Amino acid sequence: MLATLDRQLRPLCYRYWQMVIDPRDVMLQRLLVDAGIASGMRVLDLGCGYGKVSAMLSRIVGPSGSVTGVDRDPSAIEVARRSAASQGLTNTRFQVTALESLAETSLEGPFDAAVARRVFMYVPDPVAALLAVKGQVRAGGVVVLQEQDTSMVPVASAPLPLHRRVHEWVWTMVEREGANVRFGLALPSVFARAGLSLEELRVEAVAQTASRRLPTADMVRAVMARIVAQGVATEAEIDVDTLDQRLEAELTVSGASFVGDVVFGAWGRVS
Ligand SMILES: C[S@@+](CC[C@H](N)C(=O)[O-])C[C@H]1O[C@@H](n2cnc3c(N)ncnc32)[C@H](O)[C@@H]1O
Repeated sequence: MLATLDRQLRPLCYRYWQMVIDPRDVMLQRLLVDAGIASGMRVLDLGCGYGKVSAMLSRIVGPSGSVTGVDRDPSAIEVARRSAASQGLTNTRFQVTALESLAETSLEGPFDAAVARRVFMYVPDPVAALLAVKGQVRAGGVVVLQEQDTSMVPVASAPLPLHRRVHEWVWTMVEREGANVRFGLALPSVFARAGLSLEELRVEAVAQTASRRLPTADMVRAVMARIVAQGVATEAEIDVDTLDQRLEAELTVSGASFVGDVVFGAWGRVS
């Protein structure tokens, strides 16, 4: 009876954990709050994508604050606008803008803070982009970046060949697309060269076990066309419809823990 209940509840619990309290969002929320993002602030969300970070910021700054999301991808901005409207986030606005053209863009700044998650690793000249960002933030304002870094991962407490293969598919694809997948470690030097005083640099990771897994197969499904286009793996090799089951089985049978996500968080102040 208890075993049956456990079998039924466990998948629901980890689905809930993934959807409601994604640990990567928890790390970001903590970084933002520790960096001083607070009620009433005017915040610029750089490379906002579909607006997930903007929505988090919107809730932190509240109705007396505001969030401006910018991204170079017009289709992402469309999704971000629709998503914010459906959540009733009236303190957010979105604009198509590349970081490289921020200096010539008129936004409703200066902002109290600028934030970016998983964006600068894709930018060919991050120092120039950060200099342009500084121009949009008031003196004393804060710039907060959170970026992935694969220098230390994947690591596991037992051999997990499928987990390692999936990690390699994703990160080889990202690297072949031109991203710097070791950008986290470069953050202090990028801040220094952009003349931003680094106040904090932290490293956090997500440890997965059989009962606490990330929705890796969903993520692979979302980027499968890019993995195939970069010649990293074929659809048949990925076999995305059975991927989640196979990943879960690998962790369950081995009883192992796996770390594939390491993020660096940093903030600095504009003088
Ligand atoms: C991995 S997504 C992250 C989206 C969002 N920050 C999040 O964490 O959910 C990277 C985003 O950065 C945007 N991006 C990359 N380079 C950019 C640039 N030079 N200027 C503006 N946006 C950029 C992409 O279009 C994409 O939406």
